[in-house]
Amino acid sequence: MAPSANVGPKLDEPAPLFTARTTLGTCALEDYRGQWVVLFSHPADFTPVCTSEFIAFQNALPEFEALNCALIGLSVDSVYSHIAWLESIEAKFDVKITFPVIEDVSMAVSTAYGMIHERSSSTATVRSVFIIDPNGILKALTHYPLTVGRSVNELLRLLKGLQLSERESVAIPAEWQPGGEVLYNAPCLFNDAIKAHDGQAWYFRKVANDTGEQDEVTS
Ligand code: BEZ
Repeated sequence: MAPSANVGPKLDEPAPLFTARTTLGTCALEDYRGQWVVLFSHPADFTPVCTSEFIAFQNALPEFEALNCALIGLSVDSVYSHIAWLESIEAKFDVKITFPVIEDVSMAVSTAYGMIHERSSSTATVRSVFIIDPNGILKALTHYPLTVGRSVNELLRLLKGLQLSERESVAIPAEWQPGGEVLYNAPCLFNDAIKAHDGQAWYFRKVANDTGEQDEVTS
């Protein structure tokens, strides 16, 4: 199959670099080296589900920052539209959006990231999320449709799981919550697999609860 121009980056690849105009001035992905980044797109300013998501992201911003993670929003609307919408969110909901929101009228960033899904809309970004590590490598991505808002709590869980998995070389089980049991990675060598593990299955060995401590913020 011929590669599509709009598939976006794959896991463990470098996230596409960009420099873009935002509500807080020009920002470049490279400015964020040394930090985690959650880059997320929304379909359109002044729409109900997007408004609920922006309020949820802003309310959780201190938690993301405590994890050494910056939030960057994006849509194909202009910076003037973004500013008017953010002003309205502050006026109506008393929530001041303090993370930058990219204007992507040229669709340069959304195309590079595969945020435009033609069957959903040829002109609006779907609800994409890209979690980028401090070295600029894409570690997780999700795409949600226009009709269903994302769970910011699940994104925080995912970010915490990624950080813990990397820090402790463990795997994160289904429904894990911070502080819960994690798993040893399954061995790839037969001799490692057949060693006794206190009655646990070689492919499902639990590790003591993690401390729930976060990565140290170095900035
Ligand atoms: C919304 O955020 O409510 C929305 C945005 C685009 C299409 C449909 C709904």
